[in-house]
Amino acid sequence: MDKLIVTGQRRLQGEVIISGAKNAAVAIIPAAVMANDISVIENLPCIEDVSSLCHTINKIGAKSEFLDRHTLQIDGRNVKNICATYEEVKKIRASYYLLGALLGRYKKAEVALPGGCNFGTRPIDLHLKGFRALGAEVYVENGIVKAYADKLVGTSIYMDQVSVGATINIMLAACLAEGKTVIENAAKEPHVVDTANFLNFMGANIKGAGTDIIRITGVEKLHGARYTIIPDQIEAGTYMIAAAVTGGNVLVKNIIPKHMDSLAAKLIEMDVTIEEMDDAIRVIADKPLKCVNIKTMSYPGFPTDLQPQMAALLSVCKGTNIITENVWENRFQYIDELRRLGAQIEVDGRVAVIQGVDCLTGAQVMATDLRAGAAMIIAALAAKGETTIGDVKYIDRGYEDVEKKFAALGADMKRVTL
Ligand code: UD1
Repeated sequence: MDKLIVTGQRRLQGEVIISGAKNAAVAIIPAAVMANDISVIENLPCIEDVSSLCHTINKIGAKSEFLDRHTLQIDGRNVKNICATYEEVKKIRASYYLLGALLGRYKKAEVALPGGCNFGTRPIDLHLKGFRALGAEVYVENGIVKAYADKLVGTSIYMDQVSVGATINIMLAACLAEGKTVIENAAKEPHVVDTANFLNFMGANIKGAGTDIIRITGVEKLHGARYTIIPDQIEAGTYMIAAAVTGGNVLVKNIIPKHMDSLAAKLIEMDVTIEEMDDAIRVIADKPLKCVNIKTMSYPGFPTDLQPQMAALLSVCKGTNIITENVWENRFQYIDELRRLGAQIEVDGRVAVIQGVDCLTGAQVMATDLRAGAAMIIAALAAKGETTIGDVKYIDRGYEDVEKKFAALGADMKRVTL
């Protein structure tokens, strides 16, 4: 079990290169399995979630092979099995994309209910409702979601709630349905657009991704494609917040600045200087931070996946800060860990009130999930003395070379393998 040891209060300085987007990668890898052909995916992040998913698609007969650290070749010609068991999918929640991919290609899929980060109830009813609307019979038996159809037929689907996963999953299945599917109240996240772009490179006909209405005209089959994944908005945001918490001056490179608008707006409100370039953002924090209120929302709102990191930053922002978590029911479980470092936070339902303190102090904490782990890193960077972060396996799910990237910026961070 690995731990990260961080000695805080070092000002971050220099450049960091952001990896490919985890949440795009975990949708695009299952999408590649939909073709009876070979695809090559570039700019994949070298993270545990990608390794787990490669393992899962290999088990169903696809052949995934890394051509280099960030380039994956996927051969979908020998997919024989439409079942992904709990053993295969327990580590990664996004394995549910295999449902849409296999249902689209084979008109049948059996995938165990997903694992992944635990922050309260995470239903997939909207995904299943979408598959049913396309004509599939869908039920859960012995912990496995089973979906079968003689044929899928395009239809109009209104999403009761904006859901990234359901939007992508329905899009996957609808690509190979007969006729037109319209998804209304669709999620607009950058990785929804990236997955749609990849599917279009494979021969799909998807229009409107990135708006709240996506129109898909089914095609008979998809072919292989070569595709480069977008940069990771959440990894980029984590380094931007880390720069702010250490009073640093960091150039965050290889990003799409537009994807960072909601965070940049908040940091500017806090008196952090943001310089936007074509594919990079410089973050300069040389003034005392002002307090802010944050409400998480689906894109282009403030992302819930940066909420824990932001809470860590606001812990040292003097005054009263309020975070309202609108996406997940129970995403403040990490707050007890922040309190160990001296943060003053009260939680009432979906609202956290943070009284910024002068200084956090190092302690032993746990990464309770992926982004909670990132929040521990932010807090540890700000804290006086040494912080030990346990359960780093959660952080490794989504952050490539985390201790190396932070160390290159001047952080005192090392990994200890026990
Ligand atoms: C994705 C991201 C995750 C992020 C989340 C919200 C991936 C792999 N994961 O998760 O990191 O935190 O978007 O930006 O991309 N809901 C339902 N029924 C459903 C599906 C969702 O009620 O069938 C609800 C959820 O409980 C939640 C909200 O919809 O309250 C948003 O969930 P959703 O966008 O689906 O999240 P994920 O796709 O699982």
